[in-house]
Amino acid sequence: MTALKKISNLVLPLPVTLATCRAEKENSSTDNIIPLSWVGIVEYRPHMVNITIGKEKYSANIIRKRKEFGLCIATVDMMKQVDMCGYTHGNKVDKFEMTKLTKFAADKIDVSLIKECPICLECVVKSSSVMSAHEVFFAEVINTHIDDRFIDGSGEPDIEKMNVLGYANDMYFSMGRKLQSLYYSKNN
Ligand SMILES: Cc1cc2nc3c(=O)[nH]c(=O)nc-3n(C[C@H](O)[C@H](O)[C@H](O)COP(=O)(O)O)c2cc1C
Repeated sequence: MTALKKISNLVLPLPVTLATCRAEKENSSTDNIIPLSWVGIVEYRPHMVNITIGKEKYSANIIRKRKEFGLCIATVDMMKQVDMCGYTHGNKVDKFEMTKLTKFAADKIDVSLIKECPICLECVVKSSSVMSAHEVFFAEVINTHIDDRFIDGSGEPDIEKMNVLGYANDMYFSMGRKLQSLYYSKNN
């Protein structure tokens, strides 16, 4: 056995999300997009998620101040736009303009969400933990959107059709293929 070189990127592979946030300027506001893969679910009564962002990052500063963000699931089809948003910064570039991703307004918070994403969540920050280089934001999911194109015949999200984009060890992966249903082994 050999020790892993880089543990941080090797919890294999993580789904890629796009968090959206809105900065208030003098007489206007600007929407930003930050790709995140350090994201998780922490509770379901109420539904809570966590996102981890480098604490000095432009988006972290906005989310800390505004206490709300959108969280949208990225697909393989969006890989190039995701990649572009991962090395550009919202204080220098309008990432919606740069990627041509389509905005739609969240219902309950003041951010734009991304139409091309099959699922978008509206999240309100409840607390955060400051680590050495990152801040972990814990947020309640107060509203959800799923594009009808990704609902199957029984009304469930069609995960296979979404073809969710994954990330591990500085590479992108497809997470799309269904194998079995949960606890299928009980009947076999
Ligand atoms: C696939 C992918 C996953 C990423 N995951 C994270 C993450 O979980 N946390 C983080 O702080 N940065 C992450 N990044 C890097 C940020 O997206 C990047 O620093 C971005 O330029 C910051 O945007 P901003 O300056 O507009 O805030 C990721 C980038 C990519 C492409």
